[in-house]
Amino acid sequence: SNKRENISMSVIRRLPRYYRFLGDLLKHGVTRISSRELSQRMGLTASQIRQDLNCFGGFGQQGYGYIVDQLYREIGKILGTDKRRRAILIGAGNLGRAIANHMAFETRGFDLIGIFDQNPNLIGQVIKGIPVQDSRGLEEFCSRNHPAVAVLCIPRESTHEMATRLTKLGIKGFWNFSHYDLSVHFPDAVIENVHLGDSLLTLSYRVSELERKE
Ligand code: NAI
Repeated sequence: SNKRENISMSVIRRLPRYYRFLGDLLKHGVTRISSRELSQRMGLTASQIRQDLNCFGGFGQQGYGYIVDQLYREIGKILGTDKRRRAILIGAGNLGRAIANHMAFETRGFDLIGIFDQNPNLIGQVIKGIPVQDSRGLEEFCSRNHPAVAVLCIPRESTHEMATRLTKLGIKGFWNFSHYDLSVHFPDAVIENVHLGDSLLTLSYRVSELERKE
């Protein structure tokens, strides 16, 4: 709908956190929650929550609160988790392994269907039930299985070439952990860069602030 297209990116960036919170509430059997209580639990103001959630339909009712599973499903739809999408992971090193093992792709609408590396010592190793394949087989694999997104856990030097290759194979989205700025070179692809180091620097700033006040 039109309404949906107008949701600002800053709201979208906050939705995963709502989604996670609501999922936890559901797990604990909570069926209904007021914006005030949700705001207390999430450390936001009630008006911020109302503003965010009103962007895509007014299902919070005055004096009644939100129906948790309805809101959870609605946010899921906006985030696209109601569709299944296939993902592949490139680079089965330390980081790739950690992500394949610990990331619940399924609960976020993704099926991790393949893991690839160029290192012969890793090929054939099984990570979370998925055997590491030779990345030379990517063309054949993608033409058969049509993955939509790729998780990049390869070094910066390999990233440009790999992304070029994958784009030709129909990959439309990159969850990019390599420290290479793909967005500059692949304007048509959807790219989410993850830099854990940025989060650490934010922590550094905030600790510095705290120390300044002491
Ligand atoms: P690693 O060396 O353990 O793993 C990299 C893997 O990629 C190796 O198995 C290698 O054989 C494979 N590889 C390299 N080029 C390839 C290609 N063209 N095709 C297929 N496979 C290829 O390194 P690690 O520790 O897993 O880190 C991977 C990258 O992620 C590094 O560049 C690192 O800087 C980065 N990193 C990013 C973080 C972030 O927050 N974004 C956090 C930690 C690491």
